[in-house]
Amino acid sequence: MKDTKNKIACITGAASGIGQAMAHRFITQGMQVIGVDINQDALQATKQASKHPDNFHPFTVDIANEDAVNQFANEVKIQFGVVDMLCNNAGIGAHKGRIWDISSENWHQVFNVNFWGITNMIRAFVPMMLNENKKRYIINTCSGVALGTQWGQSPYVSSKSAVLSLSELLFHELKKDESAIQVSVLVPTFVQTRDYLTVKGDLPNEDDVLQANDVVDIMLEGIENQRFYIFTHPKGLAKRVQVKMESMINRTDPVFSEHLYYKEK
Ligand SMILES: NC(=O)c1ccc[n+]([C@@H]2O[C@H](COP(=O)([O-])OP(=O)(O)OC[C@H]3O[C@@H](n4cnc5c(N)ncnc54)[C@H](O)[C@@H]3O)[C@@H](O)[C@H]2O)c1
Repeated sequence: MKDTKNKIACITGAASGIGQAMAHRFITQGMQVIGVDINQDALQATKQASKHPDNFHPFTVDIANEDAVNQFANEVKIQFGVVDMLCNNAGIGAHKGRIWDISSENWHQVFNVNFWGITNMIRAFVPMMLNENKKRYIINTCSGVALGTQWGQSPYVSSKSAVLSLSELLFHELKKDESAIQVSVLVPTFVQTRDYLTVKGDLPNEDDVLQANDVVDIMLEGIENQRFYIFTHPKGLAKRVQVKMESMINRTDPVFSEHLYYKEK
């Protein structure tokens, strides 16, 4: 994205991990960052840790709550105008276990944040972003788990698969309407954040682990090159896609996506 000075970015999950790294980077690039999170204290800490705290505007919002998101979007419009960049990054992990053993409460909780959170944000912000047909950006954060077949955290994997489809649909709809909005789906895996720490025990290959800042580099490079699919681990994730597609084309059983496919080096 060229000419970032005073452009407005809205980032969900801005108080930790990848979202926080995005916020800090965008601020160093001269942007005004609207940081959304459910964790008010962590938002304040993120503001204080910023190089230019005045350019970080914290909003405590639960993105799973449609009314709260709509109210927030109206406030943003009044205070800042239309956002130039919308990063739908917030997401939560799920309990482990068989589909039927995981509580329905956890199923709903994960879908409410990971799927409905992004849907609520898109529904609240895209109509405003369509105005004037200016170049604007939407980046939805998915996960590498959506590209393969994996078991153990079924609410998480299913919700991220929905995010992938939703993002592809958003791309097509905006293209059909000849909108200038550029859509990307960020597909991370193995990033050293709070989320990552919860699955750390499962990781076979520590060399593949990235820092949140690396993800921001990869994301910005992808946006610059007008890429829709932005993969943090292109080789390993492409292998996942290939294996999945081959089993669909050949109509064989789904193949379990082993961590082996992530080896980048
Ligand atoms: N870290 C990884 O290895 C990894 C891998 C694949 C995908 N991802 C995805 O990347 C995104 C960021 O992950 P992270 O590792 O930085 O996680 P993180 O836990 O460090 O940060 C997520 C932030 O989202 C906020 N949040 C949670 N629920 C919210 C809600 N209802 N409303 C508003 N904010 C809410 C949290 O308070 C937290 O600050 C997530 O969507 C995650 O699924 C991460």
